[in-house]
Amino acid sequence: MKYLQKMFAVSVFLLVAAGMVFSGGQKAQDSGKGLVGVVMPTRSEERWIKDGNAVKEGLEKLGYTVDLQYSDDDIPTQTRQIDDLITKGVKVLVIASIDGSALSNQLANAKAAKIPIISYDRLLMQSPNVDYYVSFDNYKVGVQMGDILVTGLKLDQATAANPVIVELFAGSPDDNNSVGFYNGAMDRLKPYFDKGVLKVPSGQIDRAVIGTLRWDAAEAQKRMENLLSAYYSGNVVLNGILSPYDPISLSTLEACKAVGYGSTPGKPLPVVGGQDCIVASVKSILAGEQYATVLKDTRSLGAATVTLVDTILSGKTPTGLDTTSYNNGAKIVPSLLLDSVIVTKDNVQKDVIDTGYHTRAELGL
Ligand code: GAL
Repeated sequence: MKYLQKMFAVSVFLLVAAGMVFSGGQKAQDSGKGLVGVVMPTRSEERWIKDGNAVKEGLEKLGYTVDLQYSDDDIPTQTRQIDDLITKGVKVLVIASIDGSALSNQLANAKAAKIPIISYDRLLMQSPNVDYYVSFDNYKVGVQMGDILVTGLKLDQATAANPVIVELFAGSPDDNNSVGFYNGAMDRLKPYFDKGVLKVPSGQIDRAVIGTLRWDAAEAQKRMENLLSAYYSGNVVLNGILSPYDPISLSTLEACKAVGYGSTPGKPLPVVGGQDCIVASVKSILAGEQYATVLKDTRSLGAATVTLVDTILSGKTPTGLDTTSYNNGAKIVPSLLLDSVIVTKDNVQKDVIDTGYHTRAELGL
């Protein structure tokens, strides 16, 4: 009996001690204003690292604790991470999805636990449980992608007798942003298609056909290689490429170089735009290869998100939101939409270096 009592006392002691350690651990984690969960799609793309850092550092400065997760572009990993963050008791979830429609169960669980959900950069689709969307105006970004080709290819001077030749690439079909980018670009280019001064020899124009799953640059490169061998073996010269993303711009340019573009008389490198203003693309722009990119300053997106989280957790109602543009299939999600900037050789200094987005050293200058 005595032995049992002793064992009981020891167990109670151990339980209390474990509880103290556990609650101590929790305390350390939740210190300050509370724990915020941030989930980014992948660490293998430069921009999401910048995004993650901007949100984490901004929130920490305000006294929040941040649990930042990267999902390796793997949907089961992302769902598991969100489940874990809900279990940890985060006060807000900030999510940049891989597949915008794949998280409905997690979002429902978060809502049941009264956790507000902010859809970051990419819209979370088909769920009524998304509270806010913070992004850039994706349609306008698409228009800028079109602008880049209009300017770079001098489409206003083109004639139907000597049309400008392009091929088109779109983003990941499971990312709603791809829709805005595509619609914006195609609306900007439509008058030139209609006039017959702009042509796509492959005839591959539909977003479903020209999409690039997971924004995979290698997949886009392969598609470019196939297009070049199928449609450009004769005298047809490719003049431009619609690209929705810098790594795709660089890989499709590689495919062109491999068949003599940029090194054969009469075959200059095609005019290619892009998106995200990654270091390698800015270097390529300065070297006169990629023509332009669209800069979406991740620091501004991060700062807007931090302000939104703080507003929500201070019990205030966010103001100045767009309440018409973004329907996710289940509801219109109140949105904060930032502006983006076209970057060519001419404004790298002003808009990329002077603002500190990339340093001269990063650009190898
Ligand atoms: C999109 C995003 C782009 C680009 C792309 C690939 O959702 O808006 O800026 O980063 O994903 O990661």
